[in-house]
Amino acid sequence: MFEHLPKRVYLREVGPRDGLQNEPVFVPTEVKKEFIRRLAATGLPHIEITSFVHPKWIPALADSAEIGKEFAQFGKTHTSALVPNMKGLEGAEQAGMKEVAVFMSASESHNKANVNRSIKESLSQLEELIPTIKSKGVRVVGSVSVVFGCPFEGEIKAEQVAPVVKNLLDFGADYISLGDTIGVGTPTQTKRLLERLLPIVEPKRIGIHLHDTQSTALANAVAALEMGITAFDGSVGGLGGCPYAPGASGNVPTENLVYMFHGMGIETGVDLTKLLEVGVWIQDQLGHPLTSSGLRAYIGRKARAAEKAAQKAAGMATAAAT
Ligand code: HMG
Ligand code: MG
Repeated sequence: MFEHLPKRVYLREVGPRDGLQNEPVFVPTEVKKEFIRRLAATGLPHIEITSFVHPKWIPALADSAEIGKEFAQFGKTHTSALVPNMKGLEGAEQAGMKEVAVFMSASESHNKANVNRSIKESLSQLEELIPTIKSKGVRVVGSVSVVFGCPFEGEIKAEQVAPVVKNLLDFGADYISLGDTIGVGTPTQTKRLLERLLPIVEPKRIGIHLHDTQSTALANAVAALEMGITAFDGSVGGLGGCPYAPGASGNVPTENLVYMFHGMGIETGVDLTKLLEVGVWIQDQLGHPLTSSGLRAYIGRKARAAEKAAQKAAGMATAAAT
């Protein structure tokens, strides 16, 4: 076990998009911008910054044009955004995005709920959209949702996911993102799906996008790592969720991925303490507690250290007075 670990993994932070798309109250654009800047300062190599969707569908990201314009090119940090269709691509192009993710689901019901299309209709739309994106010199991620389980149809088999992935690759997707949208997958399912996909796509062109409803995300990440996958999505604080997937919880917390990888001797380029501080900051901005176990532990440690320091200071003051 763990004989062929990579030296480094590539982390894609999706908090500003997957995380904030699910917030019930609109997060001010200036807060979003500061969030992205703080995330980049932790050393994260990639940030998914927004989504060029109709505000009727995702009101939380109605400021995508402004966010895109500011961060389409952002120093050493790679940035990308979601686009559901040609209209979304127009917005991404105007902003100057160099990478976009198109998306669809492996189940009919989730695809219908999320993009108002049958799988066949989505495929025929993406058959035109992906080559159009590529013709503009923009990199395309083909994101496939509900790869392990669907909120409406239950378990999803690798046999259902593979044809969708194959189509997206045939249309020209540079990279495939496998989404456990409702966070129900297990390591066995992860292994089975990758066994099915690796004969048609190299591991370096696959990324894993895990939500953590059943707390199996880290185990699934390790299963994927063992199968040669080195790109992982995460969301600081465990923010996130798909508004069209009832019962789904947030993404695997990026800080939990970073902690685990560093502990396994694998580099991420991320400063864990700085990332945890971004988690504390965004939690304060949002005004509700975030679910990440790593973040909760950090906040607890900080509170205990502050209490100890206050006790010491009080002790010194008493000693000085006597
Ligand atoms: P529709 O209603 O069928 O769209 O929705 P339509 O093509 O019929 O257009 C209706 C109107 O919307 C038209 O305007 C369009 O111009 C406009 P009208 O003529 O009526 O004035 N419109 C747009 N406006 C702005 N930007 C656009 C856009 N597109 C159309 N891009 C549609 C179809 C796909 C648009 C809709 O279903 C949609 O936006 N769905 C997106 C849902 C979504 O964003 N879900 C969350 C992201 S996916 C996710 O979180 C999963 C992931 O994290 C991976 C995982 O976890 O598994 C990626
Ligand atoms: Mg997601």
